Amino acid sequence: MTSKWAYGVVDDILQESLDKLQLKYLDLYLIHTPLSIVNGDYEGPWRRFEEAREKGLVRSIGVSNFTIEDLDKLAKVARVKPAVNQINLHPYNYSSNIKLLEYHRQHGIVTEAYGSLAPITTFPGGPVDAALDKPAQRLRISRAQVIFLWLRAKGIVIVTTSSKKERLEEYIQAGDLPPLTLEEVAAIDVAGADGPPLSLASFGSKEGLCAVMRKPWWRLAMFLFLLGLWLIYRGNISRFMPSLACARK
Ligand SMILES: NC(=O)c1ccc[n+]([C@@H]2O[C@H](COP(=O)([O-])OP(=O)(O)OC[C@H]3O[C@@H](n4cnc5c(N)ncnc54)[C@H](OP(=O)(O)O)[C@@H]3O)[C@@H](O)[C@H]2O)c1
Repeated sequence: MTSKWAYGVVDDILQESLDKLQLKYLDLYLIHTPLSIVNGDYEGPWRRFEEAREKGLVRSIGVSNFTIEDLDKLAKVARVKPAVNQINLHPYNYSSNIKLLEYHRQHGIVTEAYGSLAPITTFPGGPVDAALDKPAQRLRISRAQVIFLWLRAKGIVIVTTSSKKERLEEYIQAGDLPPLTLEEVAAIDVAGADGPPLSLASFGSKEGLCAVMRKPWWRLAMFLFLLGLWLIYRGNISRFMPSLACARK
């Protein structure tokens, strides 16, 4: 049983969660985001987390959406290190998170992944689809289950959700499925590193935008755009568009 603190007095918010859930303690309590840290004060809230753990109100304490820099800052003031970092992780942003995952491994921090079904929910039709379909056909399972096996192969804890009973059952069954082969895991990694397909969703997410900006055609378009601006600035536009040049006089 996990809950998160985002703002307000830690003790009050934690007690509110316990009351709502009608529990005496939580298994895991997380700082929701580094944005919850005001004026760089990692120590203040973390000390309250450590006290809550000492009092037995939470068994483990951790963080969410923390970068390596955030984790380093927290490490300087922490008496109890974070047990978990819950992050947005899926095949399309895996390659940009390798350093963070390595940091977790070195410091004994468990990686929890949310948003892992992004290839199905946010970026359908991308290069990862084919890499998911191969094992899905071999094991006769769904794409979502293949993503869960991919996370499991990397030792990452899955945090997911569904409003549908069938999907929840499918998710639970994933725990009993055989593992993906090393080649299948690698094929998902490679396809994901290629970035998500171009769509409006790509522009709405950091990894989508970064992937678009890595595409050669995007770089060419930006180069031509900047060249156009420069030509206008230098007044050379008159060579190409005399009417505009007249208007400027
Ligand atoms: N720490 C944080 O900042 C943070 C942020 C976001 C979420 N979370 C946590 O992560 C949990 C998971 O949330 P998420 O949104 O990240 O989940 P996710 O696992 O990426 O996706 C779950 C969503 O996928 C849909 N879905 C599943 N299979 C599908 C299919 N075959 N086709 C179309 N849609 C499909 C489900 O819709 P249906 O309901 O229709 O099945 C559900 O809404 C949340 O409950 C929350 O606890 C944490």
